[in-house]
Amino acid sequence: MEALKDVRILDMTHVQAGPTCSQLLAWMGADVIKFEPPQGDATRGQLRDVPNADSLYFTMLNCNKRSITVNMKSAEGKTVFVDLLKKCDIVMENFGPGVLDRFGFTWEKIHQLNPKIVMGSIKGFGSSGPYADFKAYENVAQAMGGAMSTTGVPDGPPFVTGAQIGDTGTGLHLAIGLLAALHQANRTGKGQYVEVAMMDGVMNLCRVKWRDHQRLTRQTLSEYSVPTEGLKATPRAGNDSGGGQLGNAIHCKPGGPNDYIYVVVQEAVWDALANRIGPDLGMPDLAKDPKFVKIADRRKNQNEMWALITKFASNYTKREFMAILNPLDVPCGPIMSTEDLAEDEHIRGRDMYVELDHPQRGKWWNVGMPIKLSDSPARIERSPLLGEHTEEILKSVLDYSDEQIGKLKSAGAFSAPPKKAA
Ligand SMILES: CC(C)(COP(=O)(O)OP(=O)(O)OC[C@H]1O[C@@H](n2cnc3c(N)ncnc32)[C@H](O)[C@@H]1OP(=O)(O)O)[C@@H](O)C(=O)NCCC(=O)NCCS
Repeated sequence: MEALKDVRILDMTHVQAGPTCSQLLAWMGADVIKFEPPQGDATRGQLRDVPNADSLYFTMLNCNKRSITVNMKSAEGKTVFVDLLKKCDIVMENFGPGVLDRFGFTWEKIHQLNPKIVMGSIKGFGSSGPYADFKAYENVAQAMGGAMSTTGVPDGPPFVTGAQIGDTGTGLHLAIGLLAALHQANRTGKGQYVEVAMMDGVMNLCRVKWRDHQRLTRQTLSEYSVPTEGLKATPRAGNDSGGGQLGNAIHCKPGGPNDYIYVVVQEAVWDALANRIGPDLGMPDLAKDPKFVKIADRRKNQNEMWALITKFASNYTKREFMAILNPLDVPCGPIMSTEDLAEDEHIRGRDMYVELDHPQRGKWWNVGMPIKLSDSPARIERSPLLGEHTEEILKSVLDYSDEQIGKLKSAGAFSAPPKKAA
């Protein structure tokens, strides 16, 4: 955990997009101070599975951080914020549009207070343009960034993908921007503003769909299993590979919802594959069949090819079929359910599903760190309780005395104002 040692982050982010970013940076060794409103990040209480315990939604996105609660709607809370700003290398937020300005802390003001600090902001649509004032959640970003219109089957509705490309995907983009800006600030002494819009991040992740969008003006998309003649926008194409090689999800024995294997009929492997499956299908000369002999033929007749492969696969489970395909060098992978993955030896061996303990909820599991640094492996520690480190941070980072802390406390710097009587 040495890579970002000595980097301190004032993390005002909430929900998913920002916290996944700061969690990654914490796993790389940064001291991440989760700066929360007195009620805490709303996800602490969302989709709770254990009464009165921080939800998995929160614990899975906020590991290795320290939590301080500060009421930014009080003058004393703002003083604490300013003091922390001066002691941090990065400040990050993903509030709705205008929230930080309402606090009185624009980027200009923050830059003035600490010229070296790097500021990261996630917004649904960035700070400029007709959509700038809108809030956004994951699926709004998937809808507006081009992911939903290109996901699903052609004659069905658009679909969201299970991968959180709008939130976590944006968090990854932000992490890259922050590290670049930090590198520059260390060289020049001057911080800068790093903005990532969720819509932009999703568009970036859909890049190859823009390849196809432009190809449509000159050609049909021969690798798609659906007709593309005359289309003006990249269509939904089910489980088509979307790349230069043909691919599809093949249903296997015993026919359950996750009994599929994704198979890529790479150009180089067709002969071997056809020679293996052909005899069992009563087609010993499949490899030489003119309907499939060249990749262009296979593209044209791919639905027939998938039907043949599926017929063969119906006698095997996805794992058995994988064992047949691996020696033939056919790129393939069984569709893994969360249950499959939770038990998977490979995943466990790579620390990608790790067990943790938590004072409120007991044992629980988190998805591990997907970026492996040879000299700085991540050590995953539980998420903080709300305000667990308030005093520690005030003392160790800001050198506040007990007396100062006491005064701030009674002035309401760390707590929510009492609810007005109805
Ligand atoms: C996610 C989102 C839709 C949530 O909307 P929301 O719950 O209304 O939250 P907002 O960020 O708009 O507002 C937060 C409120 O908490 C208040 N708050 C936050 N931190 C506070 C603190 N430390 N002390 C006091 N108040 C605080 C803010 O002042 C604001 O209240 P206001 O509207 O009275 O100013 C919105 O934050 C958003 O669009 N973010 C940008 C895009 C994004 O990251 N989306 C993905 C989330 S996974």
